[in-house]
Parts: sequence; structure tokens; C-alpha cells
Amino acid sequence: MTGHSTYIPALRYNWLTQFYDWILSTFLRERTFKSVLIESIRAGSPKHILDIGCGTCTLSLMIEEAFPEACISGLDGDPVVLAIAKKKLTKAHSKIKLVQAMSYSMPLSSNLFHVVTCSLMLHHLNAEAKASTLRECYRVLQPNGTIAVADWGKPSNFLMRLVFYLVQLLDGFETTTDNVKGNIPSFIEKAGFSEVKELKKVDTFLGTISIYQGLKKSKEIIL
Ligand SMILES: C[S@@+](CC[C@H](N)C(=O)[O-])C[C@H]1O[C@@H](n2cnc3c(N)ncnc32)[C@H](O)[C@@H]1O
Repeated sequence: MTGHSTYIPALRYNWLTQFYDWILSTFLRERTFKSVLIESIRAGSPKHILDIGCGTCTLSLMIEEAFPEACISGLDGDPVVLAIAKKKLTKAHSKIKLVQAMSYSMPLSSNLFHVVTCSLMLHHLNAEAKASTLRECYRVLQPNGTIAVADWGKPSNFLMRLVFYLVQLLDGFETTTDNVKGNIPSFIEKAGFSEVKELKKVDTFLGTISIYQGLKKSKEIIL
């Protein structure tokens, strides 16, 4: 991927997208790590939530179940995955709004959301796109808003490192190397977020997924 010109589909090739939900639920302990992400944002009872790189909207729907009063939007660049998402939303009688756009230039106003979630998307982006996507997340969040990220993190042991080569062979080494080095918190901090922490590691059949959080601190006005 060069700079800001394109995106990598959910499983790299469009023809694999139809198998995405099955692979996630079978090999990635999907409900476990997505539940950790949701628990991490529960305290604020967020009312406006954006799920970027929403894919087939499994996380967006879990968020809607957890916060039925919230106004939720899912953003993704891929029309193929959004078509699958749309069918799932209709079946679930969901009110989630879908936006087709790229994460590094979102057609959304600033200071809109209490929470932005980002699950398994950052490892699709090269370093430049990771940085600009996280800056966009900072921009669209309200002051005191939270970013909650679930993505491939530093492997918790040698076996986790070995199996993660399978993901790297599929998704490419350029976009995944910062993940495996444990550099995602530093990307989140550089975008302006404070109190960045890794909340939990979840080991899966394909590697270690880390849950990270950061805060958009409100700027104090000194009179
Ligand atoms: C591996 S899937 C993750 C889907 C979902 N968040 C989940 O956790 O199951 C990554 C998603 O990010 C989307 N994506 C990749 N790069 C993107 C970008 N720059 N802007 C918007 N969406 C992007 C892909 O289309 C894909 O649906």
C-alpha cells in the first residue's frame, strides 16, 4: 500500500471477505477480545460512538447491544464488506449508520464522538496511514473522549510469535511489523492522546491481540 491511496480488504483478497466472520469466530476468540474492548468503554456510558474499519459490523452490533441508547456509526473503505455489514444490520433491525470512507480522511465533523473504536484495522495500514488515521480519530473525538483499539500486539510468547507469521504472510510485513514490535501505543500517543495503556492481551490461534486505550484530554484554559 502506498501512502494514502488504497486499503487492504478484511482478508486481503476480496474473494475471501465472505469467509471473514467464520474465520474470526473460529480462530480469533472474537467475542472474548471484542467484549474486553466494550468493557473498557463502559464506564463513560458513551452516547456517540464511531467504529472505524467496522468490516462486517460484528463489533458495532456488540456495541449496540451493550449501549442500546447510543448513536453508533460504522466506517469502512470497502464497499464489498459494507454490503455484508448492511445485510447483518437489516437482519438485526439495527440503527447503526454506515459510512463508506477512508480512515485517514473521514468526512465527519470534529469533536463529535465520545468513543472511537478500532478493531483489527491498524495492522492494515502502513506507518504513515496509521499516524494520520489516529490523528483523525483524535480530531473527531470530543474532549475527554476515548479511543479503544484492539489489534495485533507484541506476542506474549514464542509460540504466539510463530503463529503470527501466518497473519503476516497474508496481510504483509510492511503494515504488521509495528504491531508485532509493540509500537501501537507510541502511535496513539504521537496522535495526541494521553494516558495510553495496554489493558489486556488475548492469545488466539493466530497470535496475540492487545487492547489499548487512550484519552483525548480536554485542554485547560488558564485565565
Ligand atoms: C480485518 S478487518 C476488521 C473488521 C472489524 N473491525 C473486526 O474487528 O472484525 C479490517 C477492516 O478495515 C478496513 N480498512 C482497511 N483500511 C482502511 C482504511 N484506510 N479506511 C477505512 N477502512 C479500512 C477493511 O476494509 C476491513 O473491513
